[in-house]
Parts: sequence; C-alpha cells; structure tokens
Amino acid sequence: MATTIRKAIFPAAGLGTRFLPATKASPKEMLPIVDTPLIQYGVEECVRCGIQEFIIITGKNKRAIEDHFDIAFELEEKLKSTGKQKMLEVINKLQEIKFAYIRQREALGLGHAILCAKPFVKDEPFVVILSDDLLDPDSTVLKEMMSIYEQKKSPVIAVEDVPRADVQRYGIIDGKMHDGVYEISDLVEKPKPENAPSTKGIIGRYILTPDIFDILEKQKPGAGGEIQLTDALRTLVKKRPIYGYDIKGRRYDAGDKLGYLKATVDFALRNKELAADFRKFLIERVKTL
Ligand code: UTP
Repeated sequence: MATTIRKAIFPAAGLGTRFLPATKASPKEMLPIVDTPLIQYGVEECVRCGIQEFIIITGKNKRAIEDHFDIAFELEEKLKSTGKQKMLEVINKLQEIKFAYIRQREALGLGHAILCAKPFVKDEPFVVILSDDLLDPDSTVLKEMMSIYEQKKSPVIAVEDVPRADVQRYGIIDGKMHDGVYEISDLVEKPKPENAPSTKGIIGRYILTPDIFDILEKQKPGAGGEIQLTDALRTLVKKRPIYGYDIKGRRYDAGDKLGYLKATVDFALRNKELAADFRKFLIERVKTL
C-alpha cells in the first residue's frame, strides 16, 4: 500500500546515563552494533519503508551524528586511491537522503524533543524512531504500522509484552484487541507493577499526527520531571483513536548494557563475514562457563 508518510523524527538528545562513561562525550546513537551505528539501522529501516526526510533532534556532544551522515572527502579520496571500492560504497550508502538537524538545548524529555521538530513537520503525519530500540534488520514492524495508519488515519504505536517487574521502565497501554490491533483506552508512563493496567510496553516506533504538537506545547513535566510523550498521548486518546501494534520479531534495548550485548551477539551471528568464526568462538567459550 502506498504511504502518505514522508518524514521521520529521530530524537537523539537524551543523556544516555545507562551507558556511561561511553556516552559522556559521544552520542549513544553512535554506539556500533558490529560495524554500524544504532542510528543508521533506524534510518535504513525507514528508507526501506519509503521515508524520504529525516529530522534528527540533537543535543550537546552529538556532532558525531551529523558528521556520520555527511560527506567525508578525505576518507573518500583515500579509499578511492587505495582501490577500496567496497568500503566506499559502504560509507556512501545513504548519500541521497535528506537530513535536518534541530538542537534541543536542554534534555527536557522525549515529548519536548518531538515538539522541537514541529516547524519541520508542519501538518503531516510522521514517524518517530528511538534508535536505541533496535529491531531485526529484516523487520517489517514499521511497514505494518504504516499500513495500519493508512487504513485508520490515526496514530499507531508499537507495543511489546514486557515482564511485569519491568513495567516501570516503559509507557504502558490499556486497551482491547480488535482485528489484530489494540484500541488504546489509556496510557501511563512508568507505572508501579501493581498499578500497571497491562504488561504491554510502548517501544520506540510511533506514527503520530501533527495534532500531538498542540498538546505537547501545553504538556507539564511528568515522570522523572520530564515532558513525556506518553502523557501527551493520554490527552490525545480522549480526542481520537490511537492504535497499538504488537510487534513481531525481536527488539533489543540497545541503550541498556545487557540489551546491547545481546544485540551484538545476534547481529554478529547473522553477519556473513563473521558468523562462522564467531559461532565457533561462542561454542568454545560457553563450554568453559
Ligand atoms: P531514554 O529514556 O532512553 O533516555 O530516551 P536517554 O537519556 O537517551 O538514556 P538514559 O535512560 O539516560 O540511559 C528515549 C529517547 O528519547 C531521546 C533519547 O535520545 C532517546 O532516543 N530523548 C530523551 C531526547 O531526545 N531528549 C530528551 O530530553 C530525552
């Protein structure tokens, strides 16, 4: 189905405290899984779905993201002169893509980061990707969400079942499944396990409509003193339907150390050049545990 969604916002201005000290001076979004930074996986996922424009919300210490998607003349010349054509193709893979960068001066929360993109998004629906939520490289989650959006013309957010003990790390939805999607009735950010309306946690893929901006403009700080997107969605769901798409396939919380290690192992095992040797290493290593 043809999509009407052309733009994606990548909030990348968070402080990345779970990954200190690596994220003290470099962006979490540039942490590599095997050889590719987290944010590039997210961009490639969108490109596969026909997204044409990217708006990256950056903050302090995030210049490496802009450099990563820019032309690197010196490096290109070096690769050309040494005949490293394959590497040249690798670094130029996303050359045709348009990126805009907006600075969030203070890390006031995910909701505030998205609000910073308002002047670029204007009155179109858009995708939001949190690139530390990493999906399988052949994931069709975003494609499925876009197709739900095209049928319903209302926001769609990705959810996944999480252990009850972990609900306080997520936005949690309440709602009923109907025709394969949740019709969301309420959302709550980081509830205590005993207060969570379900164990369906929101993960970092959203299709939103521009009416969220008016709500975000008035949104007061919530959990953790941050302007929370979940709180704004809670207001929006009183005005229009919001749908929850239960994702298929694996999702790695790569902004967390354990999730990052799991992603690295799984991606290395799928990498043509590394898989055989890495598998051998893992089998030997496990024997000594
Ligand atoms: P996280 O909750 O993962 O926060 O943000 P964080 O600061 O990046 O990492 P930790 O928890 O301290 O380790 C979710 C997403 O929202 C972005 C982050 O960059 C991440 O993509 N974000 C968060 C912003 O862009 N601005 C903010 O003010 C807060």
